[in-house]
Amino acid sequence: MLERLESLRADALQRVAEATGVGELRAVEKDFLGKDGALAEILAAIPSLPAEERRDTGRGANELKGELLEAIGARRSSLEEVEVAALRDAGGFDPTLQPAAPERGGLHPVTQVRREVEAIFTSMGYEVLDGPEVELDYYNFQALNVPVDHPSRELQDTFYCDDDHTLVMRTQTSPVQIRAMERLTPPLRVIAPGRVFRNEEQDATHEHTFHQVEGLVVGEGIQVGHLTWTLRRLLNELFGRELEVRLRPGYFPFVEPGFEFDVRCPFCEEGCRVCSKSTWIEFCGCGMVQPSVLAAGFHGRDDVDLEALTGFAFGFGLDRLVMMRFGIDDIRNLMGGDLRFLEQFPC
Ligand code: FA5
Repeated sequence: MLERLESLRADALQRVAEATGVGELRAVEKDFLGKDGALAEILAAIPSLPAEERRDTGRGANELKGELLEAIGARRSSLEEVEVAALRDAGGFDPTLQPAAPERGGLHPVTQVRREVEAIFTSMGYEVLDGPEVELDYYNFQALNVPVDHPSRELQDTFYCDDDHTLVMRTQTSPVQIRAMERLTPPLRVIAPGRVFRNEEQDATHEHTFHQVEGLVVGEGIQVGHLTWTLRRLLNELFGRELEVRLRPGYFPFVEPGFEFDVRCPFCEEGCRVCSKSTWIEFCGCGMVQPSVLAAGFHGRDDVDLEALTGFAFGFGLDRLVMMRFGIDDIRNLMGGDLRFLEQFPC
């Protein structure tokens, strides 16, 4: 048996040395070291050998196994080197080239500013709420006091989702005001950021799909001063300095009195493209919540004393705020999906 081992060794080492590819090496490995290979046969025969031969045969077989594994490993490395060099010389694929570093994504500028706004309001004790984008006409219009013949309900302004017009793509985040009142108990402070939809022509400041942030505070003794303080605080935090603001009368069916809240352009003193040369930027609609809206929101609630409550609400365009924040002059860039634009706002 020892002679048999010696001749196997010579054959195997010769085949290893003569192998011209990794595939041939695999075949040598299988023939000599495999489950049904030559060495396995010898090991299986050991119990039937005379006692004095068993030990040397076992040891010899194990030594041969180690020697073969080492020889195959060394030959494989040198064959692989040759193969890599050939691939490289052929000018095509270089398997040793480092892979390109994975590209890192970032947060969209609208998401960045939304998160900042949320952080500012949560630091003031506000809860952040969500609401459905496909909304019942009841929440989007009726409960907010918007009459059936109001122009905003026309097909040119609102995307309806069904023939009898009970479902709409929400045109504003204000329906979350009603949903918040239905769910929560005063005193309450909430904001509701989200996407809204309007059947409008696009231009540099108008999108058909954009984002708003709604705010609602309801409690005892809430008045206009709380509203203006809150919006000023938001702007001061966002822009890092005191910006001049002004209130103008504004009509929204769900607030009384209602206001347009404007802010002095943070980029110029004489007028620029961001403020359309007026030095003022319309920031949001706002006002004191109509008693009829409070009544709709808290309808059927024994735990709420409507007589004792007042509230303020506001709704601003998040995309317009992002434009102010970064000095962007065309809203269509935001959802245009052009990475060259988005990469300018890494985060
Ligand atoms: C409203 O949508 C009211 N819901 C706001 C409100 C809430 C008033 C609570 C009172 C109390 P308005 O239609 O003005 O109001 O829109 C609010 C803001 O959304 C605007 O100031 C503007 O910043 C933004 N906005 C309106 N239309 C567009 C549009 N097509 N594209 C981008 N932003 C828009």
